[in-house]
Amino acid sequence: AGELPLAGRRVVVSAGGTREPLDPVRFLGNRSSGKQGFALAEVAAARGAEVVLVAANSSLPAPAGVKVVPVETALELESAVTDAARDADVVVMAAAVADFRPATYVDTKIKKSHDPGDPDAAPTIELVRNPDILAGLVRDRGDEANPVIVGFAAETGDASGSVLDHGRDKLVRKGSDLLVVNEVGVDRTFGADDNTVHILRQGSSHVVDVGPATKHDVAAAVWDAVQEIL
Ligand code: C5P
Repeated sequence: AGELPLAGRRVVVSAGGTREPLDPVRFLGNRSSGKQGFALAEVAAARGAEVVLVAANSSLPAPAGVKVVPVETALELESAVTDAARDADVVVMAAAVADFRPATYVDTKIKKSHDPGDPDAAPTIELVRNPDILAGLVRDRGDEANPVIVGFAAETGDASGSVLDHGRDKLVRKGSDLLVVNEVGVDRTFGADDNTVHILRQGSSHVVDVGPATKHDVAAAVWDAVQEIL
């Protein structure tokens, strides 16, 4: 029997969507289901890799043979991914990471109004930036070839450029080896079972178009592209 293509490789996949708490009962979140990241972890394990799946707020079952590290916030996801990335051959950032978090966390439930003189007052939520985890991984790697780093991007075409134009700009800006560009629009991608993506490679004009395909088939195409780099 031939050896599995990812045998002996350590891979890290992030999945799901981060939640940024405001108080014990409320958070800022997003609609990521985690399905694409879980499919990536499942396919990597089936191809023989040792897989750590850093899963943000997903209720999906752990894929066979995959170590799941559950996290909630962007900062927790950053620390779990950076830890696991230290001895990894590949890091795939499929999670939807909140760009901002509330500047302060209040450890008691925020009341409708604090002001007895103005019972209709509403609070203002101040936000601060979260770190760009993908950019941090690229920065920390320096001139090393390891790990191979894969980013995801949800893009829509608009007057300033097509989905692919925006994807190419983002690939150069982020500095990852691959960027998987998701075409998003009304009723597309979030929570859906299938996906249309374009896989872009740093320094190459070649594009791999995938789909509409299941998230499992998209995952297989992403690992095929990673295997070409390894
Ligand atoms: O810039 P944008 O959010 O479109 O980039 C998406 C890519 O960057 C994804 O791979 C996502 O996991 C990653 N990301 C990150 N940290 C953030 C925001 C996005 O690693 N704060």
